Amino acid sequence: MDKLTVRDIDVSGKRVLVRVDFNVPLDIQTGAITDDSRIRAALPTIRYLTDRGARVILCSHLGRPKGKVVEPLRLTGVARRLSQILRQQVEMADDGLGPEVDKAVGNLKAGQVMLLENIRFHPEEEANDDTFARRLARLADIYVNDAFGACHRAHASIVGVPRYLPAVAGLLVEKEVKVLEGLLASPQHPFAELAGGAKVSDKIGVLENTMDKADSILIGGGMAATFLKAKGYQIGLSLVEDDKLDLATKLMDEAARRGVNLMLPVDVVVADKLSTEAESKTVSIKDVPPDWRIVDIGPQTVKNFSAELQECQTIFWNGPMGIYEIDKFARGTQAMARLLSGLKATTIIGGGSTAEVVTAMKLADKMTFVSTGGGASLRFLGGEKLPGVEALLDKKN
Ligand code: 3PG
Ligand code: MG
Repeated sequence: MDKLTVRDIDVSGKRVLVRVDFNVPLDIQTGAITDDSRIRAALPTIRYLTDRGARVILCSHLGRPKGKVVEPLRLTGVARRLSQILRQQVEMADDGLGPEVDKAVGNLKAGQVMLLENIRFHPEEEANDDTFARRLARLADIYVNDAFGACHRAHASIVGVPRYLPAVAGLLVEKEVKVLEGLLASPQHPFAELAGGAKVSDKIGVLENTMDKADSILIGGGMAATFLKAKGYQIGLSLVEDDKLDLATKLMDEAARRGVNLMLPVDVVVADKLSTEAESKTVSIKDVPPDWRIVDIGPQTVKNFSAELQECQTIFWNGPMGIYEIDKFARGTQAMARLLSGLKATTIIGGGSTAEVVTAMKLADKMTFVSTGGGASLRFLGGEKLPGVEALLDKKN
């Protein structure tokens, strides 16, 4: 990574504004945090700073409140969880970003940590408002970006503040960028990509950008339906991106031309509706009934994918293989997670739902790396520059 990090500057005693991504999944009913990986992932940077007597002002978004206060999206629960795992009290700041917040920042002692309220409660955040960015910058002497998962968003707390403060990467951003850069620059071969999830459109960038590096591309999940339809199969009521059929064909042709082994499901689980009470059965992809939909990859596909992945040295996985939120349609996804966790290969898991599945199955530490960025890691692997990373100070050689 060609950007300065917290290690490259003197942070001792300084007021440091740290943009983190504490956008954690919440239980819809209770509001409880269901996966605190993103909070834990920021600990190395927070500890690095507090150990050196910095005064730490954390800033994050949670959900998409669209510029107003949404009570269930307050960061109070996050502050509580962070206090527990940091074993140190983390004070919540006032809503406003008014004089109360200045006062709280002014009272911070060396090594203390506070958390600003959900930054997306302010419409200026997503609008990347310059006055707002300057207001945030006034709180601190130094800006650290450790919000890898939000680095693809050109928002005020991501790209605005760095215009007004010395801006460096946190240890998580450094790690994420290093791992993903390594994956693009020199993957050990054979290199396989396992792609799933609902939409082809999310994955196009990655598939196109890595077509010259991958040895195999395995496609499951909702997006497989578009590829299957492009090949002429009947896919019943499965969701299809009809405007992506040509692109799917193009990708398959391109793979064939380059000798990339592009594998699709040969059997699938189909269901008559999308619910726990649905009737379901396994069928060949030649026999998907017209009024049923594909909800998972089938056992023969799990076998085929497993045989291929077992031969690989590097695997990047993004996107579940089926409707994993419903237990009985999670088998394909779980089988892939278990398989990858047992391989000696380098296994890199994209963020978002794939990371959540792997964490829920307690397999995260058996993978080489689990990214905290869903959209951000896909953009990065798609060859795009991340605005949040670009905004940081360059390393001078
Ligand atoms: C994420 O969870 O993808 C990041 O926190 C960014 O959130 P967003 O997709 O709402 O911008
Ligand atoms: Mg997102």
